[in-house]
Amino acid sequence: MHAFTRRHWLGSIGALGASGLFSGVLANPLGSAGDPAEGLLKIEKEAAAFSNPLRLPGSSGLFGVLPATDFREVHVVRSEIEVLPGRRTPVLAYAVESGGRKFLNPALLARKGDQMRVKLINRIDQPTVIHWHGLGVDSRNDGNGLQVVAPGQSMGYAFTVQDRSSMYWYHPHAHGFIPQQAYHGLASLLFVEDEDEVALRKELALALGESEIPLVLQDKAFDAQGRLQYAPSAAQSFGGWVGSRLLVNLTERPVLKAGRRIVRFRLLNGSNARSYRLAFLQQGQALGFYLAGTDGGLLARPQRIEQTFLSPGQRLDVLVDFREAQAGRPVTLASLPFDPMHQEGGHDMAAMDHSQHGAGHGASASVAMAMEGDARALMRIDLTPSGAPYDRRLPTRLSSLAAVDEPAGTPRRMRLDHDGQGHWTINGGVFDHAAVSLTVQRGARETWLIENAERSMPHPMHLHGFSFRVLERLGSPAQIRPLAGARGLLPQDLGVVDTLQVWPGESVKVAIDFSHPHAGDQDYVFHCHTLEHAEAGMMLRYQVKA
Ligand code: C2O
Ligand code: CU
Ligand code: CU
Repeated sequence: MHAFTRRHWLGSIGALGASGLFSGVLANPLGSAGDPAEGLLKIEKEAAAFSNPLRLPGSSGLFGVLPATDFREVHVVRSEIEVLPGRRTPVLAYAVESGGRKFLNPALLARKGDQMRVKLINRIDQPTVIHWHGLGVDSRNDGNGLQVVAPGQSMGYAFTVQDRSSMYWYHPHAHGFIPQQAYHGLASLLFVEDEDEVALRKELALALGESEIPLVLQDKAFDAQGRLQYAPSAAQSFGGWVGSRLLVNLTERPVLKAGRRIVRFRLLNGSNARSYRLAFLQQGQALGFYLAGTDGGLLARPQRIEQTFLSPGQRLDVLVDFREAQAGRPVTLASLPFDPMHQEGGHDMAAMDHSQHGAGHGASASVAMAMEGDARALMRIDLTPSGAPYDRRLPTRLSSLAAVDEPAGTPRRMRLDHDGQGHWTINGGVFDHAAVSLTVQRGARETWLIENAERSMPHPMHLHGFSFRVLERLGSPAQIRPLAGARGLLPQDLGVVDTLQVWPGESVKVAIDFSHPHAGDQDYVFHCHTLEHAEAGMMLRYQVKA
């Protein structure tokens, strides 16, 4: 078990402060003998003004909860929703009808073993396709974009859900249209349940939408009419589009009420390009919490932490015991400051970000200049007086996830870089959907060494078709090292993952088991989940030979 102590945490913030990268928040307070809480209190002060009730999954409508076997058609449509209070925002959405109820972007519930049979009907004027992110389905049902659905056309999906319990998600994957379609609203959740999951819910008396809360983190930019803006310049198409307005479940400046009990948060970073450094704050202190699971389900046992990074595409399963918090004071879910490490050179991303955020934010001038890595409040949590007594304890064991050992054989190297001309590369190549760049044998157990260049950006690398395990992290930057334990691994690296953040200068070793139950050769992709990076070439097609 790793010891992620407060000392480590302050140590890492102190290091950031000393580097002088962060003027203002956190830098001076923690770098000097002054009050170390000042920077955190500033974030909490931002949250104190939040007033919009967090949008929660209900029984219909936006994010309504729907059994994955209770519908047969999903329509990709243009629609309008109220994102900002009092304004109608045009969006793209997944529209579903079931039992007389209408859903937009339903949160799907599947039991392991469920058969999904769904017809995607494309009612927009662009090609699209649904990708079931994280599910180990055959390559046709994966929706990886090698086949897309033209406007007015449809495509049938039929597969069995065979994955560990976790929160997966679904989003578009037609190359050339992925970032803008996802940004304009096409994304939602898919929960898979198995016995471990049922046991945990029972043990902690959790109920979805009450004490178990999905949190979809996204950043957007709006014009004065409340329309989403997505107009990346050349530099932003390369570096990634970062919006200045932070949304949780499409709610800006949200507030959640929670009891003084164990509350489970299921977090998805559904942003195109922005990473978050998450912490729960109260009165200038970080409230410790437990990491219970990652992309591909529960850890073997909960890990006590005080902060964690979350990169685009990744999910985290987190347990917060609000009995540890002071009664009568709110708790703030924050993104702590960090160095976004946009050190690819040649493109002045900071200047681009400033011009992007300088325009058109009448309603939130105070955050108009915000950029990735800035200290930000994401959500305020108001603690309600406990009604019924709650005496549940965290289980020491969550699942039977075994430790992983390194597969035999030479690691396969995956070098992440750029060509200096606006393309991101994997092993020197840019995406060509017609070319199989690499083949592996079905059933092979391989080690991949994913190496990011020094003059680069962080790349959240995502593998379709197979989840994997992390073996070792080498060359991690200074802001990561204090969070790591044995073999340089972060708490998040102890789980089953499908998306892996690789920081500039880092080399990360992972173990992938290419066993699968499908017939024939399978074609998948491996790509960066910063969606603009994938569009700018950072994706490769690979084949699993039967
Ligand atoms: Cu969530 Cu290929 O992506
Ligand atoms: Cu995926
Ligand atoms: Cu990337």
